Amino acid sequence: MVKTIRAHTNIALIKYWGKADSHLRLPLMSSLSMTLDQFYTDTQISASDEDCFVLNGIRQKGASAQRVFSFLKVLQQRFGVTGHLLVESTNNVPTAAGLASSSSAFAALAGAFCAHYNIQLTPIELSRIARLGSGSACRSIYGGFSVWQKGTDDKSSYAYALDENPQIDLQLLAVELNTKQKRISSTAGMKMAQSSPFFQPWLLRNQQELEQMISAVKAQDFTAIGNLAELNATEMHAVNLTARPSFTYFEPATIKAIKMVSELRQNGIECYFTIDAGPNIKILSQLKNVKDITNKFVTEFENVKIINASFGPGISYLN
Ligand code: ADP
Ligand code: DP6
Ligand code: CO
Repeated sequence: MVKTIRAHTNIALIKYWGKADSHLRLPLMSSLSMTLDQFYTDTQISASDEDCFVLNGIRQKGASAQRVFSFLKVLQQRFGVTGHLLVESTNNVPTAAGLASSSSAFAALAGAFCAHYNIQLTPIELSRIARLGSGSACRSIYGGFSVWQKGTDDKSSYAYALDENPQIDLQLLAVELNTKQKRISSTAGMKMAQSSPFFQPWLLRNQQELEQMISAVKAQDFTAIGNLAELNATEMHAVNLTARPSFTYFEPATIKAIKMVSELRQNGIECYFTIDAGPNIKILSQLKNVKDITNKFVTEFENVKIINASFGPGISYLN
């Protein structure tokens, strides 16, 4: 029977934004994320006469199919297995819009590959192979909070669970301002970012902020988590703005949303933002403030979709 694998999307609170080795997807920094309950990818693999990738019911040609099959070829070589494959995947997350679709996508694909060939791996081994498809995917093996330790080679670069069952009241409101596919993929953006004069200083900051974030998570300190996440995200986007050539994922609506978060905070509604490689903003808040924050965004933006997410589980078999 063909098995469907579900992996949930994760959002980094301390970002991965630069590679030491693009082939092996070894990062220049360690990162920390929360896996979400509301966003996920379901993927299944079966034997086929020709390689075929179907996403959300539509056969994909070009770059996205190529990315899937070059990843699967690497895994086939690594595990000594062969054959053409049909990959069928459904994203319950906007694709390539800065909502981390590649994290759930490649975690689910790595899991589906193992299910298809009956390969039994430990979570760390699965994390390592998911990383080869998309760096952020190595963190989606786990639920709750996870840390991707950058490591120094293929063996030592993987994610581990920091807390799979967090008790802290931490809500992530995903504010979907624009879910069109972005023009600059994460892979391309993080490569361009390395030309910023602030890139090296940011690497040092990232390491310190990661240590502080791990302490804040252990202390279940919402204020510290929020402050650090917002600082880290704005540093990442500052590096983009100061890259040569300069670029940004922000749109006018993103700036408006950033200002709204700081206004809400000034008015006593504690919330913070994080933003990934796209125009959409994620607001970190607590349950008691979700309604007020949602109302404010619904009033200020037309056609905005806000999804109230919290901690989701690690990778699983659906059947
Ligand atoms: P995001 O912010 O959504 O993670 P990325 O630029 O990192 O954006 O990755 C988006 C790319 O990931 C897509 O263009 C596609 O190549 C790939 N992708 C997204 N969803 C899937 C899926 N379900 N299966 C395989 N590949 C996927
Ligand atoms: C801003 O994992 O999508 O979301 O390894 O090239 O596929 P590739 O990049 P990807 O980058 C994620 C960037 C980020 C921050 C993060 O998730 O840590
Ligand atoms: Co991505």
